[in-house]
Amino acid sequence: MTTRQLQDRIIQLKKETDTCILAHSYMTADVCEVADFTGDSYALAVRAKDTPNKNIIMCGVRFMAEMVKMLNPERRVLLSHPSAGCPMAEQMDKELIQGVKDAHPGYAVVAYVNTTAELKTIADVCVTSSSAVRICRAIPARDIIFIPDINLGTFVRANVPEKNFLLLQGGCPTHARIGEGEVLAAKSAHPDALLLVHPECRPEVVKHADYVGSTTGIMDYAASSPAKEFIIGTENAIVQHLQLRHPEKRFYALSKDLVCNNMKVTTLSDVYHCLVGDGGEEIVMQESTRLAAVRCIEEMIKYGG
Ligand code: 13P
Ligand code: SF4
Repeated sequence: MTTRQLQDRIIQLKKETDTCILAHSYMTADVCEVADFTGDSYALAVRAKDTPNKNIIMCGVRFMAEMVKMLNPERRVLLSHPSAGCPMAEQMDKELIQGVKDAHPGYAVVAYVNTTAELKTIADVCVTSSSAVRICRAIPARDIIFIPDINLGTFVRANVPEKNFLLLQGGCPTHARIGEGEVLAAKSAHPDALLLVHPECRPEVVKHADYVGSTTGIMDYAASSPAKEFIIGTENAIVQHLQLRHPEKRFYALSKDLVCNNMKVTTLSDVYHCLVGDGGEEIVMQESTRLAAVRCIEEMIKYGG
C-alpha cells in the first residue's frame, strides 16, 4: 500500500468506527494529515473537551492521552503507541513533590502538563508552554512551586516578576540538549533568519530568540511574519510542517539533534492498527485518580482563556 492509500483507508475507518484522531504537532506530516485536529498541548486539551466521537486516538505521548481520558471518562481513549512516553513527565513523582509542598506551606503547585496523572492529583493548576505566563499571572497565589521544567520555569519567572518562584531541576532532554554554540553557528549560517524557540530551551538559547513560544505559537508567528527565513528552535517536525505550509519561506533546524524519539515512534501504520483494534494502548484510569487530577486541567482551561 502507498502512504496515500493507507491514509484513505484510515479516513474511511475513522467514519466507520466513530473515531476522532488528535495529533500533537510533533507528529510526522503523514500522521498529521489524517488527524481531525493538530496543535500544541494546550490546544489539544481544549479540543479534547468537546470531542463528540465514541473513540479518540491520541497521537502523541502518554501524558497527552491521559489528559484526554481525564476530560473524556466515558470515551475510549487510545495512545497511538504504547511506548510513547515523555521522559520529563517521569522525572518527578507525587511523593517528592508532596515533600516540597509540605516544606513550603502557602505555595501553589503549578505543574506543566508534562507530568503523570498521579502527580497532577496534588497540583493546584496545570499549565502548558503557551499558557504558563498567563496562568501564573492570573492565579491568586503569590508563591509558586513550578514543576518540572526549570527552563520553562525560568522563562515564566522572567515574565512574571511580581511573583516568587521555587524551581526544581527537571526538563525536556530534547530541548535542553541545545547549547548557545549551536545558536551562534545557526545564526552565522543564516544571518537574515529570525530565531524562533520553544521555552523548554535553556536560557542561554532563549536569550538570542526573536520569538519564544509554544509549538503553535512558533507556527503562527512564522505564518504571519513578513520575514522570509526562520531558524526553528523546537522539535524538527515543525521545520517540516512549516516548510510544507509556506514553500515561499525558508525554515532551518536550529540543530539536527532537536528530535524527540518518543514523538517519533508513532507511524501511520500504528494509527491504522489502533483503528482495526490490534494496536495502541487503551488508557485506563481509576476514577479517584481521574477526579483528583482533572481538577488542575480544568483550572488550566479556566485561567488559560
Ligand atoms: P507544547 O505542545 O506546549 O508546545 O509543548 C511541546 C512539548 O514538548 C510537548 O511535549
Ligand atoms: Fe517530552 Fe520533550 Fe519529547 Fe515533549 S519534546 S514529549 S517534553 S521529551
